[in-house]
Amino acid sequence: MFSSMTIPDLSTGKLLSFSVPIVQELASENPHALPEKYVASMDERPIVTENSHASESGGIPIVDMSILQGQHAQRQNELEKLALAGEDWGFFQVINHGISESLMDRMRTVVKGFFLLPLEEKVKYAMQDKQGYGQAFVATEDQRLDWADILFLYTKPLERRLLSQWPTAPSDFRETMEEYVTETQKLAEWLLRLLAEGAGIHPDCFHRSFGEFVGGVRMNYYPPCPRPDLVLGLSPHSDATGITILLQDDQCQWEALHIRKDGEWISVPFVAGALVINIGDMLEVISNGRYKSIEHRAVTNDKKERVSIAAFYNPRGEGEFGPVEELVDDEHPCLYRRVKIKDYVLHYLATRLEGKKAIQFAKVS
Ligand code: OGA
Ligand code: NI
Repeated sequence: MFSSMTIPDLSTGKLLSFSVPIVQELASENPHALPEKYVASMDERPIVTENSHASESGGIPIVDMSILQGQHAQRQNELEKLALAGEDWGFFQVINHGISESLMDRMRTVVKGFFLLPLEEKVKYAMQDKQGYGQAFVATEDQRLDWADILFLYTKPLERRLLSQWPTAPSDFRETMEEYVTETQKLAEWLLRLLAEGAGIHPDCFHRSFGEFVGGVRMNYYPPCPRPDLVLGLSPHSDATGITILLQDDQCQWEALHIRKDGEWISVPFVAGALVINIGDMLEVISNGRYKSIEHRAVTNDKKERVSIAAFYNPRGEGEFGPVEELVDDEHPCLYRRVKIKDYVLHYLATRLEGKKAIQFAKVS
């Protein structure tokens, strides 16, 4: 079973159409076979272990959002920790963030429920105009493929939604998504304020530059894979986003998400109740490089399917984004030019997943 892709070819501007297998079907029809198209080159192959060496102290920072509320005595410390996490790591986890465990559970349940529906039901939402059920990051017909299926939906603003692509099964999918989007958007706004404050500028600075959010949710489904050592669930990439809020699977706590830190891959452990936050390319640009968009990847395992849910919040601005002037001065020259969001996204999608290559597009030459 295949899903069809239609992709603009950057050099000719023509639309290319071809089909890509649905990985979940591949994996269930023949659980021991690994088609050639999924085999990564030697230098891309992951080292997969169930538990990482990431320790509390050496691992990615965990920020306690309850300390950042009001006048907590430790607020300044925690704010510095958050800012440093954004500068040094580009990735961190947040706890006590205000989104209830029950909502996070419901969200995981409806998303898993969707992927477990019969194929005939899921293909009703087959990807159209990037939204719906299919595969991420397919830019050419002959590229290596990732071991994952996705469901991608725009959530904000309302006119961006393609409601025909929003599943009606499980029956509470839409209302749960709606609630999750409302809550994660509040968290994204709060984080942007804190990150601005942590950078020593007015808390509204990033937010003003973002304008109204453009929001989307990418739900990733990684079936068990016969050879996790040869395959990538999601190839190394940085998110083209403003800020990403990722919900990990609690039923499969395999350390599947890896970030590249100082040239090494470090896994992001599952922390109960936490959300994983990462800075996207657009916030790196808006913060004039103060906060970093870090390369990351997802790997597979041979035992259990894994689901992850990435909520994206991007700037809408005036259709453009660029560094805020508050973070540009003699000591911090402007590193990025203003670019049109449309151009950036097109460029990002067409360059496939090649680490942080896409952001070069916005660099001052
Ligand atoms: C993504 C992503 C990681 C994961 O969706 O952009 O990086 O753990 N997902 O699935
Ligand atoms: Ni990502």
